[in-house]
Amino acid sequence: MNNLCVRVVPRIVTVYIEYLWGEKMSDYSFLTVTHHDDTLFCTGFIYHRKGLNHTLSDTDCISFLQWSLPQLHFRWPGFRKVRRQVCKRIQKRMTELGLSDQKKYRQHLMIHPEEWNILDSLCYISISRFYRDKKIFEILNHKILPDLANRRAANQRSKIHAWSIGCSSGEEPYSLKILWELNVKDKLGMEPELHITATDVNPGLIQRSLAGTYSAGSLKELPSVYLKNAFDKAGQLLCLKERFKENIRFLRQDIRKQFPPGRFDLILCRNLVFTYFGRELQMAILEKLAGQLHEGGFLIIGAHEKLPFNDPRLLIFENQPIIFKKNSNNS
Ligand SMILES: C[S@@+](CC[C@H](N)C(=O)[O-])C[C@H]1O[C@@H](n2cnc3c(N)ncnc32)[C@H](O)[C@@H]1O
Repeated sequence: MNNLCVRVVPRIVTVYIEYLWGEKMSDYSFLTVTHHDDTLFCTGFIYHRKGLNHTLSDTDCISFLQWSLPQLHFRWPGFRKVRRQVCKRIQKRMTELGLSDQKKYRQHLMIHPEEWNILDSLCYISISRFYRDKKIFEILNHKILPDLANRRAANQRSKIHAWSIGCSSGEEPYSLKILWELNVKDKLGMEPELHITATDVNPGLIQRSLAGTYSAGSLKELPSVYLKNAFDKAGQLLCLKERFKENIRFLRQDIRKQFPPGRFDLILCRNLVFTYFGRELQMAILEKLAGQLHEGGFLIIGAHEKLPFNDPRLLIFENQPIIFKKNSNNS
């Protein structure tokens, strides 16, 4: 019986591989595994595609990214430092497709244009943490938020609107909300409500934002007074208290195509557009962001980013070339 298996099974597999899948048998290695106990004697067959376990070298991955990123309107220098996580995802994708090197993946992209959407999604970098770039949050805390609250109170408008673009798992909008609740409202006793719109292209991250549960690592930069007052412990994790989730709406949106309606007093656009996107896309998005800011509103970009052009509507605030206040004399 078993000898029959050894003779017949490889033939059936050959028919499958060569005639039904259209691949060459010589691209596959073949192993037999024999198992024998008192009741059972059987032979198993393992076929695997040769070359499938090739690793994508750093040099090959760089070459691939330098070729593909501009075609997706991304910029290679933004990815240089974080390329390893993107390379790992690309290698996994190549394995799924049975492609053994980056040249084959290039050919695949040329033959299957829909694959570009998948490659695009492999390039989303989700690194974030609470209170990222402490100095910015200190300026928000001591200058920007009280300024906005005062102006709103003077205009008798009860709501301040902020937008966090590329909000990852909620670390940025929740940091803002914590400052607002614990300092501006509780300490300064100011009245206006802060409403935050937080957008991200990745639906999984939106779900994580809504859950509001974090590991200690993503909270290590948050001053301990905020940690103590805003979170409850749940085993190894920390859960944001419900009070800090109020008036925040999370939306799945791609900043290249969609903008939330309305105008904003504060826009946080950090570590996404002005790091990873190509210059033309940056310019088009900046133009829209400036238009969506209220006069006297603020735009904040990432600590290592710069704007693609000097927009006369946006003035550098507090000598920080990453914080801009919209000139009240322009619309
Ligand atoms: C590097 S994280 C930055 C998170 C946060 N802004 C910060 O500075 O800590 C970039 C985020 O942007 C999101 N993202 C990437 N491409 C996007 C797009 N086209 N539209 C909206 N969000 C995007 C990613 O999913 C990720 O959560």
